[in-house]
Amino acid sequence: MKRLLMGVMLCATVIGFAGTSMAYDGAAIYKSKCMACHGAGGSGTSMGPAFKGSDYINSSSVEDITGVILKGRTGAAKKYKKLVLGMPAQKLGGPEVEALVEHLKVLASK
Ligand code: HEC
Repeated sequence: MKRLLMGVMLCATVIGFAGTSMAYDGAAIYKSKCMACHGAGGSGTSMGPAFKGSDYINSSSVEDITGVILKGRTGAAKKYKKLVLGMPAQKLGGPEVEALVEHLKVLASK
């Protein structure tokens, strides 16, 4: 009986984890898809603006930031004229972008 109970509890824990948005690691997605341009820890590079202490990230809504990530910002829409590149639109699912924006907010608060 004890064994059965342990098994049930273990299953519940595993399912519980898989069901939350924590299944997506914003920091890991950032490292693989964003860091090359936006720098380690959001420090910025010559190919992308910084997120560390970013007024834009701190003052913008999750919806606005999500829009920039999914639609990109290039050509005439560009805000940083001294950067040659534009922001390329990203192909990411909703929960992935959600985890990413959460991570950007953490970087911006530093
Ligand atoms: C090829 C380089 C490149 C990659 C890869 C890239 N970005 Fe960007 N990103 C840019 C550039 C350049 C801009 C600035 C565009 C402009 O001039 O407005 C930008 C702008 C942004 C902005 C708006 C920042 C602001 O201060 O207005 C956000 C948010 C953003 N990127 C998020 C991301 C995320 C999240 C990823 C990864 C999924 C990513 N970017 C990947 C180059 C890149």
